[in-house]
Parts: sequence; C-alpha cells; structure tokens
Amino acid sequence: MSFAPLSPDDTPKPESTTGRVGDAIRAEFPIFERRTYLNSCSQGALSHRVRAAYEEYLAGWDENGAEWEYWVERAEAARAGFAALLHGRPDEVAVTTSVSQGVSGIVSALPFERGGRNRIVISDYEFPTVGQIAHAQELRGAEVVHVRPEADGSIPAEKFAAAIDERTALVCCTTISYRTGHRHDIAGIAEAAHANGALVLADSYQAVGAIELDVRTLGADFVTGGTVKYLLASAGLGFLWIRGEVLAGLTPTQTGWFADEDIFEMDISDYSPHSTARRFDAGTPPVPNIYAGVAGLGLIEETGVPAIEAHVAGLNTRLISGLLDLGADVVTPVDPARRGPLVCVRSTDAPALVNSLAEEDFVCSLRDGNLRVAAHFYNTVDDIDALLDALARRRPLLA
Ligand SMILES: Cc1ncc(COP(=O)(O)O)c(C=O)c1O
Repeated sequence: MSFAPLSPDDTPKPESTTGRVGDAIRAEFPIFERRTYLNSCSQGALSHRVRAAYEEYLAGWDENGAEWEYWVERAEAARAGFAALLHGRPDEVAVTTSVSQGVSGIVSALPFERGGRNRIVISDYEFPTVGQIAHAQELRGAEVVHVRPEADGSIPAEKFAAAIDERTALVCCTTISYRTGHRHDIAGIAEAAHANGALVLADSYQAVGAIELDVRTLGADFVTGGTVKYLLASAGLGFLWIRGEVLAGLTPTQTGWFADEDIFEMDISDYSPHSTARRFDAGTPPVPNIYAGVAGLGLIEETGVPAIEAHVAGLNTRLISGLLDLGADVVTPVDPARRGPLVCVRSTDAPALVNSLAEEDFVCSLRDGNLRVAAHFYNTVDDIDALLDALARRRPLLA
C-alpha cells in the first residue's frame, strides 16, 4: 500500500501553546484534580514538566555522575530565560539562590559612609528579606527611611519622592505588595530617585511571570525575583537583573567562585570579579532548582506573559466585583493598572477563613488579617465563582 505524500498544509503541526490559559493548560497541573488552587503568591502549582525536570536531573546524576558542563550550560539557560522574561540581556542577569542573595550583593557594593550618601529608602511593603537586609546595613553606617502607606493602603510615587534626597543611596520599592496587592509606580519612583543620584531596586517576586516587566521602561536599576511563585518552580533559584550602565560602578564584596572572571582558573591570589552581572553570582549554582526553573520558565514563555496578565486581570476583575457585591472590604485596588495577580480582602478572622476554605479544598493564604487570593494562568472563571460562592456562605468571616 502506498500513501500520497503529505502536502505542506497536511503536515502535522505541534499544537500551538501560545496563549494557553485556563482549561487549556490545567491538565499540566495535577493539583487541580483535588483542589482549587489560588495560592500562587506563596508557591506556583507543580506541573508535570517541572516534576520531569527534577527527574531528569536525578537520572543524569545517576547515569553520568557530575555532569558539570551540562550543569553550567543549564545555569546559562536560566540566565538567558530570566533575561528574556525581563526584556534584558543575559550579561545583565545574575543567577542567585534567593532574593536575599541578590539584595545582599547589591548592598555589599554600596559604601554607606556615615555623613555621606548613606540612606536606604524602603516602602513599608518590602518583604522581610529586603527590610531586614536594609536595616543590617545600619551596622555599616547606613540609615533606613521607611515610606508609609496612605490611609487607603496605597504608596504613591510622591510619598517616595518626599523621602528621597541627596543622601539617598538606594530606594527599594516592591513592584507588587505581597501584603495588599498594590502595584507601585516604579517609573515615577525611579524618576525621583535618579534626579537625586540614587539607585532603585524593584523586588518583583510577586509580579514576575504574571505581569509584563520590561526593564527597558520599568525605570529600576535592579530587578529581583525568584521561581517559587508565578514562575512555577521551587525554592532555591532567583535572579538579579542589573542595569548595564550601573554595573561597572558596582563591585560586590559578597561573592563566591562562580562570580570570578575565570571560574575554572581556581586562582586565590586576588579578587577579580567577572565583568558582567555574573559578578553577583556566588557559589556552586543550585543545579536541581535550575532544572526545575528552566522548565517553569518554559511554561510561562510558551503561553506568554501578556496573555497571562490579561487572563489573570479578567479573573481578578470578576473576583473583586463579586467581593464588592458581598459588601466585603477589598484591600487591593479595583483599577487593574494598580494591581497584579494578588487580591487581598479583609477578614474578621483570616486563619479561620483560610482553614474553613481548605475544608472545601480551596488553597488560599493570609497576611495581616487579609485573605490572599492569587490566581495564575491555570485558574478559570469557575474557580473564581466557586470561591465567591464559598465566601458568600462564610460572610461573617469577611470584614
Ligand atoms: C516580594 C517577595 N520578595 C522576596 C521573597 C522571598 O525572598 P527570598 O528569595 O530571599 O526568600 C518573597 C516570597 O517568598 C516575596 O513575596
């Protein structure tokens, strides 16, 4: 039997993955067989692909022992993946194990001389890792200035501007507050900082993978984040993007052999950091987490962040409108331009509410007396409606 050759149009094509959200991606995440997962602000759901990546790491180790060259190549793949996600260049990206490593690296490169440019301005919404590292610099002569929220919970750029002056070395403004879901005007804050010669760090852990971040327009000099949340992988992998123009003037004193200009020279006669952002890398890369991270990044890249952002914004508009119909006190702004993937609503007893929702297999989290609901591309309108229904039945637990 013979078959007619396939015409170009008959050629089987791989199923398009661009823009896949909701039901079209959900089968990749087994947790949805058992739970309504709305906790991506704490950790992204585990995918088959990320699990397979860990298994690939173990199989390679078992088969070949230390696959150093491949591991180093994987670390470079992660660097390139982070750079692509941020619309930056790989030579502007350090591969880290956490935001803490990246932030400690930055401050280790700043002198904080008493009486000189020694101030660190931080929002009250910084994650403990940023706030505590800032205060640790008081031991080195730094002064920390806090920018408090307005009564409505927002922190406008003008409030940062009022706290910034010629003594400011670094301004830390988280892109999205992990406590309230507010999105900050990084470009406006950066304008005030740069006018005073200060550098700007945007901790974007609650944004990256869920909203478009373009370092060419964002305004920040440093952008950091990691793979635990919307990048769908696990703990132990992060990144630090550093604007090329400021990199040359920054020499971290927190370092490690993977930050050296020639790692494999094994030279201990001096400190010669790499000319690129690799100077902010540290010790042996977190290899298993890199396998997982590259797989998670792949999933995000295939759907595309703009499609994810649009999908999640739609879900959150529905969620917020349903919460307002219930007469709830929504802490996160209604305006999609002023929020991201996280929606916070005041509770009369947040632990009781989270536990009670868990009895119906909803996975949410809490912070500061707020219920936190964090959707991602794998969530659906049905998830939101089911949660709203469950909340209506628990109305006394909403403030
Ligand atoms: C805004 C933000 N920054 C930082 C972190 C974590 O920092 P690190 O990677 O140092 O553990 C988190 C969450 O864990 C976060 O939500």
